[in-house]
Amino acid sequence: GVVVGRRLRSRRKWRRVVGVLRELEESCETPVGRLKQVVDAMAVEMHAGLASEGGSKLKMLLTFVDRLPNGSEIGTYYALDLGGTNFRVLRVQLGGTRSSILSKDVKRQRIPQHLMTSTSEDLFDFITSKLKQFVEQEETVSEAAQSRTRELGFTFSFPVKQISIRSGFLIRWTKGFAIEDMIGCEIIERLQAALMKKGLDMCATVLVNDTVGILALGHYYDADTVAAVKIGTGTNACYMERADAIIKCQGLLTSSGAMVVNMEWGNFWSSHLPRTTYDIEMDMESPNPNDQGFEKMISGMYLGDIFRRVLLRMCEESDVFGPVSSKLLIPFVLEMPLMAAMHEDDTPDLKVVAAILREKLEIQDVPLKARRLVVKVCDVVTRRAARLAAAGIVGILKKIGRDGTGGITGSRSRSDAKMRRTVVAVEGSLYTSYMMFREYLHEALNEILGEDVAQHVVLRTTEDGSCVGAALLAALHSSSSSSSEG
Ligand code: GLC
Repeated sequence: GVVVGRRLRSRRKWRRVVGVLRELEESCETPVGRLKQVVDAMAVEMHAGLASEGGSKLKMLLTFVDRLPNGSEIGTYYALDLGGTNFRVLRVQLGGTRSSILSKDVKRQRIPQHLMTSTSEDLFDFITSKLKQFVEQEETVSEAAQSRTRELGFTFSFPVKQISIRSGFLIRWTKGFAIEDMIGCEIIERLQAALMKKGLDMCATVLVNDTVGILALGHYYDADTVAAVKIGTGTNACYMERADAIIKCQGLLTSSGAMVVNMEWGNFWSSHLPRTTYDIEMDMESPNPNDQGFEKMISGMYLGDIFRRVLLRMCEESDVFGPVSSKLLIPFVLEMPLMAAMHEDDTPDLKVVAAILREKLEIQDVPLKARRLVVKVCDVVTRRAARLAAAGIVGILKKIGRDGTGGITGSRSRSDAKMRRTVVAVEGSLYTSYMMFREYLHEALNEILGEDVAQHVVLRTTEDGSCVGAALLAALHSSSSSSSEG
């Protein structure tokens, strides 16, 4: 009787944790029909965001970038890239013919946590002092002696209201940054003041979002590149739009008749998104509730925390993971790379999962069966993220008439049936370093577009595009530029 009772109890507690998993799976479901609804909603919101200021949760911000590098840029340029977990400084020497980057040096560094919530002065002091050190290491004596002012592209990856290619005001923070005194401020002014304080002779000639840098670098190598996507700490996309489609700026004149639009798609929202109670709770406890809903389902900063909340729930439901670990109560304890490592653990007895649970979350001696459950949770959360990102990409293709249907305003003529090669530049650790994520994203793209259309769509990874691209745009917009386009 005692043994039978124990077995029954054990079976019941397993049923409870498996129940938590099943419920998660159901509420995260993304069948292709639903993804297509997300695609449509994305295209509709893009229209609305372009039609009027505040017309949509999609801000569809002007960038004042009306042409993209083509490989003829020449000279030495710097870039400063602020906006994710890491901050980067870069110097490139551009050869001027056929997209040749003669040399490229990048220094990456993690942003100290306290600077993300301190004052703008502290933050700008920090980044400009790193930049100064970098310049001093990089330059030869004769270069340093030249009187030419150094030129810099500044990548600042937050929602910014730009008034020109080199000037913009911070709308609000995302991704855990919260420096009150910066909101509403002009960013280049702050940077330039900090540079002056450091005695560094440098002029910031362009202010760009990371996605715009990625698009610039993508286009530098491949002229069919029309959009760029970032899936890292946060997520966002930009693309080249016809100037006359940007209705909120009637009469917007650009030399090319087009302009790159920074979508800020992280803030996209639609009732078709498969939202769970974990998402709702995480949002409520986040520093920016009700904002960045799409980003919170997709990007690296948040996936680990969705996972944590599911695991916590499982621990509360039963003791298959032992007593509830206090570590599991800490928001954002589990960072993205560890979740990816558990998901992709290919040891037969899931040793990596066991080690991460033990060392990071202080959950000891988890039986194999429960470790398998952990992998499954990672899979569900990541799969949903990747598939939603794919739907976002198709939303852009649809808006610009490259999804094989002729666009929602375009005509469905015969010639549309012949799809043009369309390249989307992609960066960010989820896409570049998380194989399962990338595979799920590609799979969903194929499902939504169908093989015939999907074969014309190329996702191309660029490297350090957020900062190299900023340097390229600095070159393109430099007053002393001698590139063939001038
Ligand atoms: C956040 C920012 C956006 C940036 C993205 C990726 O969504 O608001 O500007 O491009 O993260 O870094």
